Amino acid sequence: MRERFRVVGGAHLVGQATVVGAKNSALKLMAVALLAVGRTTLTNVPAIADVMIMAELLRRLGVGVDYDPEAGVVVLDVPERIGHRADYELVRALRASISVLGPLVARVGEADVAVPGGDAIGSRGLDLHAAGLEALGAEVHVTHGYLVATAPQGLQGADIRLDFPSVGATENVLTAAVLARGTTTIDNVAREPEIVDIAEMLQSMGARVEGAGTSRITVHGVDSLAPTRHAVVPDRIAAGTWAFAAATTRGQIEVVGGVADHLRAPLGALEQAGCDVTVTERGFCVSALGRRPRAFDVATLPYPGFPTDLQPFALTYNAVADGSAMVTENLFEARFRTVQELARLGADAQIDGHHVMTHGVELLSGAPVESSDIRSGAALVLAGLVADGETLVSGVHHIDRGYPRFEEALRALGADVTREPEDEPPFA
Ligand code: UD1
Repeated sequence: MRERFRVVGGAHLVGQATVVGAKNSALKLMAVALLAVGRTTLTNVPAIADVMIMAELLRRLGVGVDYDPEAGVVVLDVPERIGHRADYELVRALRASISVLGPLVARVGEADVAVPGGDAIGSRGLDLHAAGLEALGAEVHVTHGYLVATAPQGLQGADIRLDFPSVGATENVLTAAVLARGTTTIDNVAREPEIVDIAEMLQSMGARVEGAGTSRITVHGVDSLAPTRHAVVPDRIAAGTWAFAAATTRGQIEVVGGVADHLRAPLGALEQAGCDVTVTERGFCVSALGRRPRAFDVATLPYPGFPTDLQPFALTYNAVADGSAMVTENLFEARFRTVQELARLGADAQIDGHHVMTHGVELLSGAPVESSDIRSGAALVLAGLVADGETLVSGVHHIDRGYPRFEEALRALGADVTREPEDEPPFA
């Protein structure tokens, strides 16, 4: 059943919001567990549907998966012999499924992973993933919609340079190199905290990985890895969402579990714009109580730059902040679906290529809108909170993929948000 959020605008969100482990790390760490025979335990795992999909994918590879969403624990029991195929129906539902590619080539010498279709935020190739694995000695080709990588004799360390610091390619090359013979250097890698998280888990499994968090990772291959227990890094995008929620609604939110250091670009921008940002014992706090912060320019960039996943929140913020500003999207084409929906809410925003120019208005005007992905959906809910009257945000299943019980967390901060069934379309 499709659901929507009914959002009544007006509240200044005040209180605490808690973030748990990052979706974009937890899913990858589940794939990393494939590298070692035995029971690996992940803690601080978010209670989201994507974890279920990844669990199903791993089960089909022969892995025993025990997921307790309430406790945030996933136990993965990896047998000696595992499969090597990630089916299209699962990859289609969860693009992060491609992170099994590296571990499977390394462990099994073969991986057949369905090529994902577009997932509504622009086209994303797998060329860098393929080139990296080829440099490690794998043969890679695409057949019948599957990317097939084989390395029957095992992988061989190599010096690799990524043309672009792709998060996914960095992960797949890193997780393949840990069991390769000899040393691999990977240059121009992604530096996201989620990459560091993977490297730390790999190290705890016995891998020899250096340099994660910098532009060059060095891996000394080992023969085998051991299972481990690892806590997922806190979700910086969820934490950033709460930071923008405080700034946009002119409220004050302490983000418990948030790591300010992982959000230097967005928190720095909010501070410059007139918000108070303080590091607290349990996380950080953003306050815009009693004032209207200024609009600011944003250009998305690989970490440590401004995250593309927070771009829809910057747009929503600028739509009601003081003054004009430009948001530039440098990572994904066509990731401006939030804009047309914000315009339905009365935002003054124009798209020009990969830029969006906004002129802040005092208040948006409630209307029905449609979420197209996780972040735009959550950003539209925040927009509804600074809109006059009622906003109906449909496509809640997108939001549920990144924000467990979003409406409950918002209500705890004083927001008027309810979940309800969506009306049947009249011409279905
Ligand atoms: C991950 C995140 C996503 C985030 C993105 C950028 C997950 C599940 N998703 O996606 O939320 O928005 O990082 O921070 O972790 N590219 C190529 N060829 C490749 C690989 C990538 O051209 O082989 C391009 C893509 O088209 C895109 C850009 O590189 O324009 C960034 O992609 P990448 O960093 O790989 O993002 P993902 O890992 O897919």
